[in-house]
Amino acid sequence: MSITDEQMIDHAPENARQMLTGDGEAATRPAIVPFKIRDIEINPPLILSPMAGVTDVAFRCLLKRCGGIGLTVSEFISVEGLTRNNPKSKRQMRFHDYERPFAVQIFGGQWERMRMAAEMAEEVGADILDINCGCPAPKVVKHGGGSGLLRDLTRLEKILTEIKKAITIPLTIKIRAGFYDNHINAVETARLAEACGVEHIALHGRTKEQGYKGRADWDLVRQIKEVVKVPVSGSGDVTTVEEAFARWRETKCDGVLIGRGAMANPWVFRQIEDAIAGRAPYEPTLEDKRNVLLEYFDLLRADMPEFAALGRMKQLAGQFTRGLAGGSRFRQVIYHSHAVDEILARIEEYFETIAAGRTYLGEEGEACTEEDAPVLDSCEVVAT
Ligand SMILES: Cc1cc2nc3c(=O)[nH]c(=O)nc-3n(C[C@H](O)[C@H](O)[C@H](O)COP(=O)(O)O)c2cc1C
Repeated sequence: MSITDEQMIDHAPENARQMLTGDGEAATRPAIVPFKIRDIEINPPLILSPMAGVTDVAFRCLLKRCGGIGLTVSEFISVEGLTRNNPKSKRQMRFHDYERPFAVQIFGGQWERMRMAAEMAEEVGADILDINCGCPAPKVVKHGGGSGLLRDLTRLEKILTEIKKAITIPLTIKIRAGFYDNHINAVETARLAEACGVEHIALHGRTKEQGYKGRADWDLVRQIKEVVKVPVSGSGDVTTVEEAFARWRETKCDGVLIGRGAMANPWVFRQIEDAIAGRAPYEPTLEDKRNVLLEYFDLLRADMPEFAALGRMKQLAGQFTRGLAGGSRFRQVIYHSHAVDEILARIEEYFETIAAGRTYLGEEGEACTEEDAPVLDSCEVVAT
């Protein structure tokens, strides 16, 4: 499907029309249309950003069901683990057909192992192989992988060239602005990647040194888009329809990735897709919110031992209930729950209470600390 920019604007309601045109910047506005990574259509042009410890098969399926996602990506997977038959790394490659198009993301610094792992990803049926060039975790960087590749472009070139020889599926990369704050080399890295045959470049516009501090620099996305022919997508700090539209407008990028924003609002992709199509963005009801938590719990329990499922559940509940009435109290209560039945009962109790317009207080007499949802802002949860 390919709709023209004019058709999109014609059918857009007034508020969406303003977002599309940027208050009269119609002449410079980009089209927000599906794009292709070789022959794979990314439609809508929205990508669930890879997040270690979060975007496992259960989370991806949950989000895919909420709608609006054009490409899912695995958590980053250690090539050391994969090529040494580590069961955890192998499990991380699992996906459902329903998720397609689906990319496996790998990380590592040794081209031999990277190439072997790339072949394994192709063998399990991934549509795309993505290379992580952004993880700032010391454990990853020490071995030359993740963002470490941004300060050793010779190594990156060797890895990309060798992988390209070994696989037939498209090769893509996700990079950061650079390794050092005083040496921004995203544009140079993008050029090199394209020359090596990379078919999509995603940029998270922060340096390795910056970690997750400050704001992502989207102007670099614009600069890369200007110099390469392959599609370019941007990542960083997008949480709403308005922010996504603004980033498209400013950079003319092909796709937008959303990570942390999807944990707080699993419908954000659907809302953006709605706005692109000129519909009013979907507004999830309390019932939707309750159901999504319960559904996630079911997906988790089908996929992992109960103890692990409880941990993941608490993680999502923590991010997800930010901003909801009584959410902070609910998070405290959930963090102190240690059994499946208990968590299920608490979820029901919480949503019933706020649906009735009452204040959620948790269980009477229960001692709770001021413990709150931990801020999830890193990929330090490193495989193997
Ligand atoms: C908990 C967490 C884990 C992450 N893990 C990965 C990863 O495995 N691979 C990757 O390329 N980026 C990873 N990232 C970076 C995100 O994909 C994304 O680029 C970054 O969070 C900025 O986008 P956002 O503001 O939409 O979250 C991770 C980020 C977070 C918060």
